[in-house]
Amino acid sequence: MSLIPKAELHLHIEGTLEPELAFTLAERNGVELPYAGTEDLRRAYLFSDLQSFLDLYYGLMAVLHTADDFTELADAYLARAAAQGVRHAEIFFDPQAHTERGVPVGTVVEGLAHALDRAEERHGVSTRLIMCFLRDRSAESAMATLEAAKPYLHHITGVGLDSAEVGHPPSKFREVYAAAESLGLRKVAHAGEEGPPGYVREALDVLGVERIDHGLRSMEDPELVERLVREQVPLTLCPLSNVRLRAVDTLEEHPLRAMMGAGLLVTVNSDDPAYFGGYVGDTFHAVREALGLTQEQLRELARNSFRAAFLDQDEARRER
Ligand code: HPA
Ligand code: ZN
Repeated sequence: MSLIPKAELHLHIEGTLEPELAFTLAERNGVELPYAGTEDLRRAYLFSDLQSFLDLYYGLMAVLHTADDFTELADAYLARAAAQGVRHAEIFFDPQAHTERGVPVGTVVEGLAHALDRAEERHGVSTRLIMCFLRDRSAESAMATLEAAKPYLHHITGVGLDSAEVGHPPSKFREVYAAAESLGLRKVAHAGEEGPPGYVREALDVLGVERIDHGLRSMEDPELVERLVREQVPLTLCPLSNVRLRAVDTLEEHPLRAMMGAGLLVTVNSDDPAYFGGYVGDTFHAVREALGLTQEQLRELARNSFRAAFLDQDEARRER
């Protein structure tokens, strides 16, 4: 495991729901899960693509009901992340996955914020919260979500875009990103995970994002790579996720090394660590072993994570 101080920039808080906590919350909230126990649930973590993961991931969220549940979830992540060298975490959440089940956005945000507000003191981790729109829902639903989140924007740094990518190009969310920008929110989006390089271009040109989450398939388009290098657009890679969701066959074949070699500003992150076999320190260790990265290359990845973070320069220097 790697204890190099680092920032984690691509982390879905709902993807940190470990089987043990899922069963504890299920019992507390009277939710019946279709699994005999934690081992049975873990056995279901054999994914064939992004959608097969998302089906299980959204299903398990049924156990999250109260603000306390969200606080407990976030606090458990922060403790684990801190133990693996994370000093700063920019945390995604999926409000629509909760509001659609009748859990108000305020319950989710205030529950998460309660843990995040104490994270410096309890775990030595500074935090930001990024609200993601589900791209397989309508643009109107995203706009309504932004509207519903307005009373809570003091807790929220930015907006992102996640869920099933293919068939849901970034341009579908042009208006909602413009509205988010006018509210002073930072902008990121998942692109080029399963979707084509053109989605990465759209995220930059139509949505005006500052970072690309994943961006893996950019490598199919040399002109796009050249631009990403020139503009030093950060790509938040998640190598263990790419293996588990079959975007790459094995970790040994992951293009991380080639991407670093090409001069791209890449960072390494855990995405949904409860499901993909490791938190970010474990991920650093795994890529070191599989790709033969040197200690200096791991340090470069850690430096990149602070460069790409939504911290001002003084804050970033202190974190390192
Ligand atoms: N991609 C898209 N949506 C997601 C992911 C991901 O890797 N993780 C959680 N929601
Ligand atoms: Zn993701």
